[in-house]
Amino acid sequence: MTTIGVVYHSKTGNTKKMAEKVVEGIEEAEGEATTVLKTAEETDEDELLNWDGIIVGSPTYYGLPSASVKDLFDRSVTHHGELEGKVGGAFTSAANRGGGNETTILALLEMMLIHGMIVQGTSKKDHYGPVALGKPDERALKGSRELGKRVATLCAKLFG
Ligand SMILES: Cc1cc2nc3c(=O)[nH]c(=O)nc-3n(C[C@H](O)[C@H](O)[C@H](O)COP(=O)(O)O)c2cc1C
Repeated sequence: MTTIGVVYHSKTGNTKKMAEKVVEGIEEAEGEATTVLKTAEETDEDELLNWDGIIVGSPTYYGLPSASVKDLFDRSVTHHGELEGKVGGAFTSAANRGGGNETTILALLEMMLIHGMIVQGTSKKDHYGPVALGKPDERALKGSRELGKRVATLCAKLFG
């Protein structure tokens, strides 16, 4: 049994819809996983310690994660070194195709790597993590489900 936290920030609901699909993907994966779905604001940094996998979603704000998501990472410094070996994943919603969505995902993954976390990409479609343009379409929702499944499957292999 593994535990996976899905943390997001969403002002107008697009990233939240993706987060809900990520949870569905975790539930579809083989091996039992407990899922916790929370906003970045309501996530206490101590909770990160309880999760085998941490999946973070943010709207793209100026090509970067939003301030509340960054704030969670900044607060997580109290556990620097303690998140080593956990599995990470990231997703975003942006308004524009070239609007900085990949840079946002990579910024999230960079912070995870600095924590010593394990990040798995995918050879298919959105390589770094799912991207929605505005309201997530079928492709973005499928990608979000696949991200959840991918992280849950790796968590089951490593910690199940
Ligand atoms: C402060 C701010 C900055 C934004 N910066 C960008 C940007 O750099 N590129 C882009 O494509 N969209 C940008 N957007 C649009 C949002 O990323 C987009 O509307 C997203 O779908 C919002 O997600 P949400 O519904 O989860 O809040 C910005 C929106 C806000 C409010």
